[in-house]
Amino acid sequence: MARIGTPFTETATKVLLCGSGELGKEVVIELQRYGIEVIACDAYENAPAMQVADRCYVLSMLDGHALREVIEEESPDLVVPEVEAIATDILAEIEADGLAKIVPTARATQLTMNREGIRRMAAEDLGCLTSPYRFAATREEFEAAVAEIGLPCVVKPIMSSSGKGQSTVKSEDDLPSAWEYAQEGGRAGAGKVIVEGFVDFDYEITLLTVRHCGGTSFCDPIGHLQVDGDYRESWQPQPMSEVALAKAREMAEKVTGNLGGWGVFGVELFVKEDEVIFSEVSPRPHDTGMVTMISQDLSQFALHARAILGLPVPNIRNHGPSASCAHVVEGYSEEVSFGNLEEALALPDTQLRLFGKPKVSGKRRMAVGLARGDDLTQAREKARRVISALDTLL
Ligand SMILES: Nc1ncnc2c1ncn2[C@@H]1O[C@H](COP(=O)(O)OP(=O)(O)OP(=O)(O)O)[C@@H](O)[C@H]1O
Ligand SMILES: [Mg+2]
Repeated sequence: MARIGTPFTETATKVLLCGSGELGKEVVIELQRYGIEVIACDAYENAPAMQVADRCYVLSMLDGHALREVIEEESPDLVVPEVEAIATDILAEIEADGLAKIVPTARATQLTMNREGIRRMAAEDLGCLTSPYRFAATREEFEAAVAEIGLPCVVKPIMSSSGKGQSTVKSEDDLPSAWEYAQEGGRAGAGKVIVEGFVDFDYEITLLTVRHCGGTSFCDPIGHLQVDGDYRESWQPQPMSEVALAKAREMAEKVTGNLGGWGVFGVELFVKEDEVIFSEVSPRPHDTGMVTMISQDLSQFALHARAILGLPVPNIRNHGPSASCAHVVEGYSEEVSFGNLEEALALPDTQLRLFGKPKVSGKRRMAVGLARGDDLTQAREKARRVISALDTLL
């Protein structure tokens, strides 16, 4: 039975967030609604989730020693990972020592931070359909892997996210640059890559899957558009055949059930006609799932809060065709500002989230536009308009 105490007292229910980006910020807001005491951590000051948390710590999530120290000092009830790149072996220790509960499980964070772990689990242990794949640790292995998989193929560092270090090899000429790019883009520096057969899908979806005290629930499928492996637009509900939807749910239930624990998972799937191909899974809210802030009564963040606190999720109500549009800016600034907000939010059923990120250096997602429409086309147009109307000063 769940019981929630009073913040800053002995009875407080405490959550420590590892990673403090825009998704974490919304999770914190949802937790605050239940009177949870929230501690936000990330590698830089004034990260979005820190701005709404009760306390924060600045440390690298990959510094296992520092992370363990903070967890010991705070002794939270729950540790909630918000990013992939975490010293997950330390999370496993924390869980094994019974110091805190890791959301959803330490094993889920370990398997999903490395493409090799989750791919082998889904394809080899669970028999899910995936793209053909090989792993390669050297240039020679890489060339052999590409020869076996065939062209075109997609090359990714095994430890990376948001499309970093990822490229598509269309001809032999792309081989050297794909290898170099993957070596530079890996989170842990140079290392192993995965070579995947290119899937010529009709569309791709994120199937938000909620594992909670009452079982497993699914949000309507979310369609999305990626540019260079980074999400730009998402919409819900993505139309799907009944057969494909049933397969997608079955796959999502299998994969998330194996990872275990409670919380929201973003199951990424490719769909071609009635065939569903597993791509990867985030054991936490998903960036494409930001659309649920306008499309559902309980957004993926509200659902995550409920699930991890052990609260029931009897139903998820949908508000109709909806879309999100990411605002990715490029340049350098430590004092970004956004104008022309009157026009950005002039239309009914539109919303805007400004993440409050303290710095842009290169490309960075700074905001998201949200909209509901009569149909998906209109919802997408409205969400795009929210963003295109913004006057961004770097
Ligand atoms: N094998 C493939 N065939 C075709 N397209 C692919 C393949 N793998 C990836 N993609 C495309 O690239 C996008 C990003 O790939 P993936 O999700 O593996 O990378 P990521 O770095 O984990 O990105 P994110 O962190 O944003 O999920 C996919 O959503 C899809 O559009
Ligand atoms: Mg992905």
